[in-house]
Order: sequence, then C-alpha cells, then structure tokens
Amino acid sequence: MNQGEELAPPAPARVDVDRPSAARMYDWYLGGTHNYAVDREFGKQVEGLFPLIKPLARSNRAWMNRVVRAAVDAGIRQFIDLGSGVPSVGNVHSDVRNALPEGERATVVYVDYEDVAAVHARITLEQDGATGWAGLVQRDLRDVPAILTDPEVERLIDPGQPVCLLLVAVLHFIGPADRPADLLGQYREWLAPGSWLALSHIAHDDAPPEAGDMVARFVSAYQSTSNPGWLRSHDEIVPFFGDWPLLEPGLVHLPDWRPDGATTIEKEDQARPFGWCGVAAKPSPRP
Ligand SMILES: C[S@@+](CC[C@H](N)C(=O)[O-])C[C@H]1O[C@@H](n2cnc3c(N)ncnc32)[C@H](O)[C@@H]1O
Repeated sequence: MNQGEELAPPAPARVDVDRPSAARMYDWYLGGTHNYAVDREFGKQVEGLFPLIKPLARSNRAWMNRVVRAAVDAGIRQFIDLGSGVPSVGNVHSDVRNALPEGERATVVYVDYEDVAAVHARITLEQDGATGWAGLVQRDLRDVPAILTDPEVERLIDPGQPVCLLLVAVLHFIGPADRPADLLGQYREWLAPGSWLALSHIAHDDAPPEAGDMVARFVSAYQSTSNPGWLRSHDEIVPFFGDWPLLEPGLVHLPDWRPDGATTIEKEDQARPFGWCGVAAKPSPRP
C-alpha cells in the first residue's frame, strides 16, 4: 500500500471507486491524497501517454492561485468555482482567506457534480471552519438555472455585486453538443458588471506536432472514464469570453499570465504549450 492509499479517506457508499474519476486523478497529479488505487493506476497509464501531465496540472493550479489573489486585490469578494474538484493543495477558499485584507469578508461557492469532490469539499470546509462563508453545490455546471437558484448560491452570493467565476481545467469536459459558448453566455448574463470570468483549457495547437499527438492520445484515454474530454485551440477558446474584454496579458499559456515568481514547477516550461488561460471582466453598461 503506498502513501496515497493510506491517507485517502474511506470512500463514502455512493462514491464509485471501480472507475477512475477525473477529480481524483487530478488530485493525484497535484500530489494530493484524495485518490484511490483505480485513479492512480489510470493516472500512471495516462502519464505514460503524456508525461507532462503533472507539471501541467501544477502550472494550472499556480495560475488559479494567482488569479484568486489578483481578484481579491481588485476588490472582488465573491467566488464561484465551477468544476472545483477535490479540494487539493492550494484551493480557492484558502487562497481567498490568505489574500484578504485583515477584517474583510469574502464568500466562495464550489460547484462539482462528482460525489467524491462534494464529499471531500464539505469535509474540508468543516475542518477549516469555513462553512459560514464557503459552501458546495453538487450539480452539473451545464444546468445553469439550477446552479444560480441553488440555496447555497443564494446564501453566499449577492448577484448585484461582482463575482470571480472560475472554470479551471473543466471546459475540456464539456463537448460541443453541450454548446459551451451558450452555457457561458448564461453565466455572463447573470453576473454583475465588474465580475471576472477566468478559465483555463488543455490544448495542443501551439505544440510541436509529435507532442500534440501525445496530448491527443492522452485526451482520448479519458473517453473510458466518467469524464470524456475535448481539446480546443486558442481561437476556439476566445469566444467563451463573449464581448467581455480580456484583462492583460490576454489568452496566454499558463506560466505567462502575470507570473509572480512565487512557485518553481519542475518541467513547467516543457508543459507551457499545453494549456491556455485568460481572465475577462464584465464591462459596466453604457449609459
Ligand atoms: C481536472 S478537474 C479540475 C479541478 C479544479 N478546477 C482544479 O483546477 O484544480 C475537473 C473537475 O471538473 C468536474 N466536472 C467535469 N464536468 C463537470 C460538470 N459538467 N459539472 C460539474 N463539474 C464537472 C470534475 O468532476 C472534476 O472535479
């Protein structure tokens, strides 16, 4: 039994541990302990197909940490994290708490449809004494009306105030049949002016062809999990922001979005072409 197996919490009855889950595999990529043997075995197989998956996941997590801090610095005090996953090393509510000025309050809503993510998020929030200002909605992010009227969202989010809406490494699980641009349009419409939309996406359009094929094989491996995946190019991702202007430096590779030199990730440079990220802000209505 390896260390991860010893530390992983017992699987609650409704959590499927016979099939690998994207949430738990991602936790394993990040070095977390909320994963089971089936996830690690499958994770090792996909790592064989795409050896840069761990640096890419860590680079993605470091980007999310920088975005959360930037949003707090910009005065945003509400966060909704769609496809939040298992709360792993450096999650949103910890970042928010660390970045907030003394005496100020912020709120966080995590949204994920997987049992394991929901169960562990609730446990983590309780352990962190954060349930008063952070919560979990276990729903499919494609059901926008249900999420926006969920009692946890109503408790924690004032739709009249700016929100930082995060979709970190999740849109590649939303296929074209689900019309992701329309889904995001519904969220953008609901958000108040001054809100941010932050999203990151796995990609291979800026990678050398051999490496690009490697990622394509990695993404097709996910077809056998409960979360099949899709690759998108830079130009396919830009429309997700609608008419909201992208904040500097635009839609860029993960290490290039406002680097702060705070983290050193081994092989981050090699993983650079495999992810795009960007943040856009909702403009105020014209008078
Ligand atoms: C690769 S993980 C990323 C987790 C987290 N955002 C991060 O960057 O660390 C993707 C997560 O999205 C969740 N997910 C995928 N499709 C979803 C959907 N339609 N609705 C809600 N959650 C979804 C999965 O359960 C998984 O936890």
